[in-house]
Amino acid sequence: MSIHTEINKVTTETFKKMKASGKKISILTAYDFSMARLADEGGIDAILVGDSAANVMAGYETTLPITLDQMIYHAQCVSRAVSRAMLVVDLPFGTYQSDPMQAYHSAVRVMKETGAAAVKIEGGLEIAESVKAILNAGIPIMAHLGLTPQSINQFGSFKLRAKEEAEAEKLISDAKLLEELGCFSVVLEKIPAKLAEKLTKELTIPTIGIGAGNQCDGQVLVIHDLLGMNKNFKPKFARKYLNLHEEIVKAISQYVSDVKEQTFPNENESF
Ligand code: KIV
Repeated sequence: MSIHTEINKVTTETFKKMKASGKKISILTAYDFSMARLADEGGIDAILVGDSAANVMAGYETTLPITLDQMIYHAQCVSRAVSRAMLVVDLPFGTYQSDPMQAYHSAVRVMKETGAAAVKIEGGLEIAESVKAILNAGIPIMAHLGLTPQSINQFGSFKLRAKEEAEAEKLISDAKLLEELGCFSVVLEKIPAKLAEKLTKELTIPTIGIGAGNQCDGQVLVIHDLLGMNKNFKPKFARKYLNLHEEIVKAISQYVSDVKEQTFPNENESF
């Protein structure tokens, strides 16, 4: 479908209007065609092809191993499913941090090869030159502050960030810088709700919370957490709307026993 025939496609302009009118922004991750189609049909405002694909799709402990090629593959799958939601794609670890030209080339590849509307990158002042290089190419950026999983080895744990005043002050100044540079929104991950509320009031760009309370302009969750796909992962900030782990295992064991007992396929399922 061309950009001219799409009805009500969510854009960075929509984000701006939603913040101005107080309408909350809903975002979920997706990494494949089928899940993205369900999210889009469910009316989600944006789909993030997060580098959390490294965890939920590939089974890595951290997001660090996923490559740009792998992110592009996931984003292409998602892109084919999406008609209304805005498509945002994470630039993975090591593809934008230290070199603005590398950041520019990584973001351009994502935009050219996936049909994304924006990229997401983690960090503040330390990645300012990369932010500028990407924005100068006309590519919208969703920023990401607080618990930035690509820096997990520096943090040493997945604990709450910006609890102490010095870190909270740096986060506020990073958020303001990213807004000034031209990022269209900022994800705030695992920070105190009060700090997220303050930032939401002070910034003109939408704040998107994950473990940052309900006063942000929007919320983002990993779709596998919302659907309850992993029985061993229960972060405090993620609400399970389904217990798909149990449902899927139940369905599969039923299929296994039907095959063993020769009750599948039955007459109606045969030719
Ligand atoms: O990679 C990801 O899924 C994310 C969101 C959780 C914000 O960055």
